[in-house]
Amino acid sequence: MDYETPLFFRVMEYADAADRDVVDMVSGNPDWEPPEALREGLREYAELEPDRFQYPASEGLPELRAEIAARRGVDPDQIVVTNGAGEANYLAMARALERDAGDEILLTDPVYPYYPGKTTMLGGAQRYVATDDDGQLDPAAVRAAASEDTAAIVVNTPNNPTGAVYPESTMAALVDIAEENDAILISDEVYDHYDLSGTFASALETDSTNRIVTNAVSKSMAVTGLRVGYAIFPPELVDDARSRHMLVNVATTRPGQYAALKAFRETDPEYYERNRERLRERVETFTDALEAAGAEYTTPQGSFYVLARFDGYPGTLENVERLIDEAGVAGMPGEAFGDSRSEWLRFALVTPRVEEAAERLAAYFD
Ligand SMILES: Cc1ncc(COP(=O)(O)O)c(C=O)c1O
Repeated sequence: MDYETPLFFRVMEYADAADRDVVDMVSGNPDWEPPEALREGLREYAELEPDRFQYPASEGLPELRAEIAARRGVDPDQIVVTNGAGEANYLAMARALERDAGDEILLTDPVYPYYPGKTTMLGGAQRYVATDDDGQLDPAAVRAAASEDTAAIVVNTPNNPTGAVYPESTMAALVDIAEENDAILISDEVYDHYDLSGTFASALETDSTNRIVTNAVSKSMAVTGLRVGYAIFPPELVDDARSRHMLVNVATTRPGQYAALKAFRETDPEYYERNRERLRERVETFTDALEAAGAEYTTPQGSFYVLARFDGYPGTLENVERLIDEAGVAGMPGEAFGDSRSEWLRFALVTPRVEEAAERLAAYFD
């Protein structure tokens, strides 16, 4: 897939400029509240002494790294706090390519488009492994595609855009495949708190020096604008990643790290459960209406997204723009996620108006 500038912003701009009311289902920006402790942390921060507005440690606030390490069962030294999962993925992919153990990045099709974009930017080459219709990844297909040219295998569970959650057996097999090929498994787990199936398995469950796990509070705490994420590296890979992070960013937002730490410490599990429950209800409402409209659709096991296919209406950018103008619903073109879903449209369930959106779609495709 040839990919340059991600299409998300272009579609969002088009929807914003539309001459009518549009239900925005383009981005992955949650419309629900962040944890109260996160808001309190930001308020508190505004009153702190001037020294707290200066550079923090480049690799992240020590207390935040310790908190994440304790939660994830790793050593704090393995953690780099990043500018969201986006930077964590970038550092992980750069680190894998820098090892001079191959220049191919194995990706899934469909794929979260920033991975192929980053691969090109870092001078690597993409190789795709197709998922099945439910978005599940067959480890045998990954094994067949992997070789000594493989620098990294990049996966995302729960998945954007398919909603698939990979079982523990898949995650363990992917770690094995990385080890067998002297490659790095990069597991982007940014939607881990939106596992609706109860089957989510982190790549951290299989101990290995060949895997990097990335995550962020962006989705779990409904703060994509805060820009706090992290990558967990094997001890032997962390130093160069830390240097790259320092050279590119100096450090990550200090007030954001402070607020995220307070939220980690003070947020009850009920906060996350409420958000999952809201999402379950939206999935049901939206897919019921798609069913009534005679569309094909996916029922996500996790993440925020539903893929839908309307007869004779391929998932092109042009059709997405037409849907904005003529139906008042904005989604993402399936073609943005790779060849396999080019007939599909992706809708993000991050608006309370999912029912209205589905009714508009049903009326439009009637
Ligand atoms: C799979 C995946 N990874 C990473 C990101 C970006 O995460 P962050 O905002 O923490 O950089 C997104 C955002 O939509 C995503 O869907």
